[in-house]
Amino acid sequence: MSFTIAIDGPAAAGKGTISKAVAAHFGFAHLDTGLLYRAVGAKTLDGAEPVAAALALMPKDLDGDRLRTPQVAEAASKVAVIPEVRAALVDFQRAFARRQGGAVLDGRDIGTVICPEAEAKLFVTASAEVRAERRYKELREKGLDTSFDAVLADVIARDERDMNRAEAPLKPAADAVLIDTSALGIEQAIAAAVQAINAKR
Ligand code: C5P
Repeated sequence: MSFTIAIDGPAAAGKGTISKAVAAHFGFAHLDTGLLYRAVGAKTLDGAEPVAAALALMPKDLDGDRLRTPQVAEAASKVAVIPEVRAALVDFQRAFARRQGGAVLDGRDIGTVICPEAEAKLFVTASAEVRAERRYKELREKGLDTSFDAVLADVIARDERDMNRAEAPLKPAADAVLIDTSALGIEQAIAAAVQAINAKR
C-alpha cells in the first residue's frame, strides 16, 4: 500500500511538529524536504555551486545541527529559487513519496508540484507574528543571541521569497485542507491534522 500525505506551509507554522506526529500516528515514513534545500544551501555557504551541490546531494548531507541555523535557512531559500536546483531534487522526493507503507512529506510545493496526486494534502499556516514568536523562543532555547524583531524580519523575508518565486511558489493546493495553528496548541493542531487525513482514508 502506498499513501502519500503532503504537508505544506510557511516557516515555523508547525509543519515539522505536525508531520512527525502524523507519521508516527499512521506508522508512515517522514521526509522533511526543507532539509534538502538546507543541505544545498549549507554547501553553497562553503563555496559550492548550487546546481552541482543539488545534483551531488547524499543522504548523509541531511544530518547535522548546522542545517537548523538561520544562516543556512536563508541560504536554503536562496538556492530554492533556482529551477535546476529544484529539478535535481524531484526524483528523490517522488521516490520517497511512493514507498510502500505510506509517506509524509513536508515542504512548500509537495501538494502542488512534487506529489499533486497525494491522497491527503494539508496546508499549515499561522500569522507571521505567531511564527516569529515560536522561532524566537526556539532559537533562544538553543542559546542563540537574537531579537524578536530580527526573527520576524527573517520570517517575513523568507515568506516573500517563497511565495513570489516563479518556480513552485509557496501556495496551498486547490484540494488542500487549511489548518491555521495561530490559536491552536500542539495537541490540537495534531488532532486537526489527523482528523483531516482520516477523512481521506
Ligand atoms: O522548511 P524549511 O524552513 O526547512 O525550508 C528552508 C527553505 O527551503 C524554505 O524557506 C524554502 O525556500 C525552501 N524549501 C522549498 N521547497 C520545499 C521545502 C523547502 O523551496 N519543499
